Amino acid sequence: MITKGIILSGGLGTRMSPLTKAVNKQLLPIYDKPLIFYPLSILMLSKIREVLIIVNKGQLHQYKKIIPNGKRLGMKITYEEQSKPRGLPDAFILGKNFIKKDKVAMILGDNFFYGQSLSSILRDCVNIKKGAKVLLHKVSDPKNFGVAVLKDKKIVSIKEKPKKFISDLAITGLYFFDNKVIEYSKKLKPSKRNELEIVDLLNVYRKKNNLSAEIIGRGGAWLDTGSIEDFYKTSNFVSAIENQQGFKIACLEEISLNNGWISKKELKESVKFYGNCEYSKYLKKISS
Ligand code: TTP
Repeated sequence: MITKGIILSGGLGTRMSPLTKAVNKQLLPIYDKPLIFYPLSILMLSKIREVLIIVNKGQLHQYKKIIPNGKRLGMKITYEEQSKPRGLPDAFILGKNFIKKDKVAMILGDNFFYGQSLSSILRDCVNIKKGAKVLLHKVSDPKNFGVAVLKDKKIVSIKEKPKKFISDLAITGLYFFDNKVIEYSKKLKPSKRNELEIVDLLNVYRKKNNLSAEIIGRGGAWLDTGSIEDFYKTSNFVSAIENQQGFKIACLEEISLNNGWISKKELKESVKFYGNCEYSKYLKKISS
C-alpha cells in the first residue's frame, strides 16, 4: 500500500505570466481556494497521510502560511525546495530522503481531478505491488498531450505530443511508483530542453513490462490548469458544482474528518485558522 505522496508545486508558470511573476501558480485561486488544495485533496482521498510538497526556492514562506505542516489535518506535511525546474522526475531525486525505502505517489500541483469513480480508482492505484501505474483520460486533441497505447491494462507504447494519431488516452499528472523510481530517475539524462522527462522515466518501466494504467472514464474530469484559459475553465467548473450541490470540492478538513484523521472538535481549530469567511462557514456546518 502506498502511504506517501509528493506534490510537485514549483515551476515557472510562464504561460500564466504576469499572474505568476510574484506568486506561484499553485497559490492562485481556483474559485474559492488555492489550486494546491486540489492535488492535495486527491492524495488525501487516496488515504495518503504523509506528503512532501516541492516548491520553488524563495517561495516556501508563502506556502507555509496556508499549509504550515499538516497538523490541523491530522497529516504529516513537509517541504523541499527546488532551485530550478529540472523536470518532473527531479521530484524523486529531491524526495529520496522522504521516500526512503517506500513506494510513492506523485501528483502535479496544477492538475485537477474530479468524479464519482475516482476514489475507487485511487484505492486500486495505491495497492500496486511492483512497477508503476498512471491514470489516463480520453482527450479530443491528443496532439497536445503525452498519450499511451494500452493492451490489457498494460501500456505498450507512449508518445509525447504525437503528430500522427496513435491513441487519444492522455497520461495525466498523477503517478504511482515502486521504490525503483529513485534509482531510475537518477539515471535519466536531460532532454533537449534540458529537463528530466517523465516520459523517459515511464519508458524505463514500460520496457520492463512494468507500466500499467487505470482509465478515468467519462464520468470523471481531468483538467490541466497550465494556461489562463484552462485555469478559468477549472474555476468555473468548481463554482458550478459547488453552488449547485452545496458541498465543496477539495475541502481538506472535510476529507480528513471523513478519513478519521481528525475529530469534529479538532476541525473547529481550522475555523479559527481561516477566520470569518465562506470556507469557515462550511467547516462550521460540517462540524456541527
Ligand atoms: P509545467 O506545466 O511543465 O510548467 P509550469 O507549470 O511552470 O508552466 P509553464 O509551462 O507555463 O512555465 O509543470 C507542470 C507542473 O509541475 C506545475 O505544477 C509545475 C510543476 N513543476 C515543478 O514543480 N518542477 C519542475 O521542475 C517542473 C518541470 C514542473
